[in-house]
Amino acid sequence: MKIAVLKDAGGDEARVAATPETVKGYVKSGHSVSVVKDAGKAANFADEDYKEAGANIATSNAAAVKAADLVFSVTGGTKKLIAGMKKGAGITGLLNPTDNPDYAAACAKAGVTAYALEYIPRISRAQSMDVLSSQSNLSGYRSVVEAGSVYGRAFPMMMTAAGTVAPAKVFVMGAGVAGLQAIATARRLGAVTTATDVRPAAKEQVASLGAKFIAVENEEFKEAETAGGYAKQMSDEYRKLQAELTATHIAKQDIVVTTALIPGRPAPKLIDKDMIASMRPGSVLVDLAVERGGNVEGAKKGEIVTTKNGVKIVGWLNWPSRMASDSSNMFARNLKNFLPLVTAEDGSYAPDWDDEIIQGCALTRDGEVVHERLK
Ligand code: NAI
Repeated sequence: MKIAVLKDAGGDEARVAATPETVKGYVKSGHSVSVVKDAGKAANFADEDYKEAGANIATSNAAAVKAADLVFSVTGGTKKLIAGMKKGAGITGLLNPTDNPDYAAACAKAGVTAYALEYIPRISRAQSMDVLSSQSNLSGYRSVVEAGSVYGRAFPMMMTAAGTVAPAKVFVMGAGVAGLQAIATARRLGAVTTATDVRPAAKEQVASLGAKFIAVENEEFKEAETAGGYAKQMSDEYRKLQAELTATHIAKQDIVVTTALIPGRPAPKLIDKDMIASMRPGSVLVDLAVERGGNVEGAKKGEIVTTKNGVKIVGWLNWPSRMASDSSNMFARNLKNFLPLVTAEDGSYAPDWDDEIIQGCALTRDGEVVHERLK
């Protein structure tokens, strides 16, 4: 099949959906690959390396997609670009379907199948294609590194001739993929680390990383995980108890990283102004959920806010893009693992519509929007 790799880079996006390593594999398997000029530049992959891997370099996204059977992208490209694609072709990316319903409609109109990678079901077989996990893992790492650079003190305890530096106290709220990596990173840097979540399964995972688990562990907590492994929306009563617990704990923390999300809903508000006011000057809050409305009151998208009492709230967007080489590598390997699901035995493009992974992530088919969540 003919594969095109878009240049997604621009704005705050630095990632690319294929690397010279994955392109080499595609070419070896008999596919032809077109990579748009400078597609990997922001992630430190040079056109020369793609060429060496066997790709053609296309002059623009529009030129690359024209004859492609399958387009690899990080963010899906524009609706105009979709209109220029071949009927019957496919495009993959983090398509943000619920916030962007016009995109699926544009794909249907063009007869293009859109694969929203964020909708790949979280079943064991799909773990190697799970873009949400591969990217969240890096976000969790980076959130702590970033907090460390904003924080005016050290993480580890240091005993020196000039006196002792106390270890930083780090609190991670939401111990999913990003939160667990944040905990591991904070621990590695020597911080005294605590964490919370509403899912009981998180308790053991937090403990296995050497952090202390803090949560309201009542009857509702025991039922808080959905069959899909996600958190449920908690009751007002639970949230009140959780807020009381958080308030006493947070006043003693130096760094708080929040990652709490509930699929299909705004992020739960976990930290209010009064809690922030109780923290000492120089403390740092990193809100990884800011894109979904934020866990921290006063967090602003794409900014660092400094409060009256000198606490900094970091609200950067698109964390994986801040580590574009690694995140692109992982993203590209996720796609490499996805490719067999849309490849026939003879190597041509042919989605396996009987596969629950394809059914789970395809937004459109034969000119129609078919995904349940978009109907
Ligand atoms: P997510 O990004 O949707 O949410 C992040 C975390 O916030 C979750 O752990 C969630 O429980 C927590 N949270 C939600 N509301 C909260 C509240 N009010 N207070 C505190 N914490 C709250 O979740 P993510 O990282 O995508 O992972 C969710 C689960 O799915 C995890 O258990 C993970 O291990 C599992 N998973 C399973 C996979 C598989 O089997 N293939 C792949 C990836 C993740």
